[in-house]
Amino acid sequence: MIKIDTVITVPNKQFENKAEFKNYVIQFVPQDTDPLRVYNFKLMEKYGDGFFYLTFVSPNKGILNHIYQTEEEYKGSEKLRFDQQKELEKKGLKYKISSPYTFNKSALTKTEYYNLHTDLLLPLDIKVDVELFKLEMDAYKGKKYHWGDLYTQYPRYAYPLVNLNGKNNNEIEPACYPLDRWNFIQTGLENTKENFDDFLFNISQFSNEHLFEINFTKPTKLMNFKSLKVLDPIKEYMTRSCILKWDTMGHFNPHFDSWHPTRWLRLWGTTDPDKMKLRYKTGGEANVLNKVTDKWEYYEPVENIEAGRLYLHDSIRWHDAFAYDDEVYQFFISLNIDAYEIIKARII
Ligand SMILES: [Fe+2]
Repeated sequence: MIKIDTVITVPNKQFENKAEFKNYVIQFVPQDTDPLRVYNFKLMEKYGDGFFYLTFVSPNKGILNHIYQTEEEYKGSEKLRFDQQKELEKKGLKYKISSPYTFNKSALTKTEYYNLHTDLLLPLDIKVDVELFKLEMDAYKGKKYHWGDLYTQYPRYAYPLVNLNGKNNNEIEPACYPLDRWNFIQTGLENTKENFDDFLFNISQFSNEHLFEINFTKPTKLMNFKSLKVLDPIKEYMTRSCILKWDTMGHFNPHFDSWHPTRWLRLWGTTDPDKMKLRYKTGGEANVLNKVTDKWEYYEPVENIEAGRLYLHDSIRWHDAFAYDDEVYQFFISLNIDAYEIIKARII
């Protein structure tokens, strides 16, 4: 991949946030007529919009991050970028283009992602012995964490399987947080829905400043469970992973865990499919309020889940989950994308 960074500065102006900066700049280069934007939008449709993103540097700078899959596609953008530069400089903005450089961060294009995720939940030939697993959990002395720092009134607990340092008694455990929430807390921004949504929809998976699934690589003692030996073939690819334990009322509201272009895969499984539901957003009469988008949507439960079996989970799709009985465990596993072929071969 080839990356090119362009710094746009608006002299003598201050912007509160990225949205304000973006709105100001794009009035001069509308999405449907500016040739560079039209060109890049076509590539976003093909490969995933995350290959093109804007980073805001307070108070008046923005960095356009453009990542091209091929030399040819980069070449096709060169002249258009110079034209955009002229256009914006005429309006008094500064526009500084970096030299293009090779970009080695691996990510799946949309095509690669959907060649693997041919359905929302795909069974793998990996199955945990549920009875043995529960016996081992009963005897396990590792620390149990509330899931994240919010809604701790609900019985949602987690044990890290793969975290940042391999310890199972860390005081604070980011592996047992929703990572969007964890990253948001680190920004120090005021905790408002507006700030959070802005953060959620603008974070880049190529950023070095945040924690993503793939930054967690150290297995904890829990990985030594006999019942989890079935994970051995995928162990070297495992990134942020946990065992979740929910009691009645434990749930996740509608959310997504991955977005294009994806840099990790997600697996999921449960010990007790008769005590919980995992549901995906599909077409149908609305039955759930999505608190992020403020829209009513339809979520359909996946049926015929097998206890202990691991599934490849299309976590780009909005989904939710809830437990209606106690002692429900879930296998919450992520993998780096080097596992792509292995997982493909293990789909039943
Ligand atoms: Fe999820």
